Amino acid sequence: MSRNVLVAYASKMGATAGIAEAIGADLREHGHDVDVLDVAQVHSIEPYAAVVLGSAIYIRRWRREAVQFLRNHVDALCTRQVWLFHSGPVGPDKDQVQEMPAAVRRLAHEIGATPAVTFAGRLERDTAKGFLARRLATGDLAGDSRDWTKIRAWADDISAAIQRSTWDRPADGTTPN
Ligand SMILES: Cc1cc2nc3c(=O)[nH]c(=O)nc-3n(C[C@H](O)[C@H](O)[C@H](O)COP(=O)(O)O)c2cc1C
Repeated sequence: MSRNVLVAYASKMGATAGIAEAIGADLREHGHDVDVLDVAQVHSIEPYAAVVLGSAIYIRRWRREAVQFLRNHVDALCTRQVWLFHSGPVGPDKDQVQEMPAAVRRLAHEIGATPAVTFAGRLERDTAKGFLARRLATGDLAGDSRDWTKIRAWADDISAAIQRSTWDRPADGTTPN
């Protein structure tokens, strides 16, 4: 199996997509083959040895298509390295860790993935979609709180873990127990 990495995202207003692109760019700098794709564009994860999945959080939930992605690929994800993140908190609470929604927690457990990492999000008038988002984007929640240093550091850790698993892998390509 090749060591390709998929970074898939579910984003409504673009902030989570931007985080996924930054993770992808960092992994490429470390020499990985990376596809960064909207989850809706992913039909098979067979080509990938590792998967990073990120969703925006809305009213404490993940985007439906991200949860569906986990459900659709649960068996294949069990045999791959998987990392999860979600992007949400903005404004004064931007550093608050967000819990995984119950459905996501169950699926993550099934897959054997560690809990999702929380990254702060973005809520700005220019990119806000929908009445409520536009309204909120005029108050103290407004702004781009994404922490690129934290995001890159996390991607560095993923790269190191992928490298380690490559070295641990026997030369015949089988997966060690
Ligand atoms: C209506 C609405 C509800 C939101 N609910 C949450 C929430 O429950 N938890 C959270 O951390 N962020 C919440 N946010 C903030 C968004 O998750 C944040 O803006 C995120 O970066 C958007 O990602 P996207 O641009 O990829 O869609 C909410 C934003 C809006 C507009």
